[in-house]
Amino acid sequence: MPKTVVLWILVLMPVMALLAGCSDVEVERGANAEPISDGWLGRFEDDAERFRALEGYLGGFSSAMWEVGERYRHLHQALEDDNLPLASYHFEKIGDAIRNGYRKRPARQANSDALFMDAVFEPAGAAFAEGDQAAAWQAFEQVRAACIACHVAEDVTFMNDQPMLRDLRAP
Ligand code: HEC
Repeated sequence: MPKTVVLWILVLMPVMALLAGCSDVEVERGANAEPISDGWLGRFEDDAERFRALEGYLGGFSSAMWEVGERYRHLHQALEDDNLPLASYHFEKIGDAIRNGYRKRPARQANSDALFMDAVFEPAGAAFAEGDQAAAWQAFEQVRAACIACHVAEDVTFMNDQPMLRDLRAP
């Protein structure tokens, strides 16, 4: 083999390897543009239909309340564990969840604000954040009363007859 050909091969090999590497990156980017899971959103005609499907999937007030209830139980457990930073954390998220709930179902905003967000959210949040155990338990009882009052106001009184709202109390 003539020397120049060997030289060219030596020069071209790393360049080819580099290009191969680049095209791998392109393939990866292409793969990211593909639908994840089995592409259920890709099956819809257009974005309007996709948004409609997502709205249905995100649920209404009950899916927000499911999160609120779950975090409320964790709030009680955190107080029992003397873990006020965790109580504070869950309580803030309860506020977010209620707001997200009425963003989806505006008809629920008036009672959410009147009976919960404006009535107990700030003082109770401060009590959990300040780290006084007795005040935090008092705040828990105020929060519980607000949950119960809103269920009555929203005509879902049966929600109050379940362990988390019936039995989880301050000691
Ligand atoms: C707007 C006032 C309002 C406030 C404030 C409120 N709730 Fe509710 N809650 C509702 C309504 C309305 C439903 C029924 C939702 C539905 O049927 O779409 C509900 C449902 C629930 C459910 C059942 C969710 C499910 O489908 O699994 C739980 C649990 C719950 N609430 C707990 C709480 C707790 C705990 C608090 C206080 C931290 C609270 N709620 C505060 C109005 C409220």
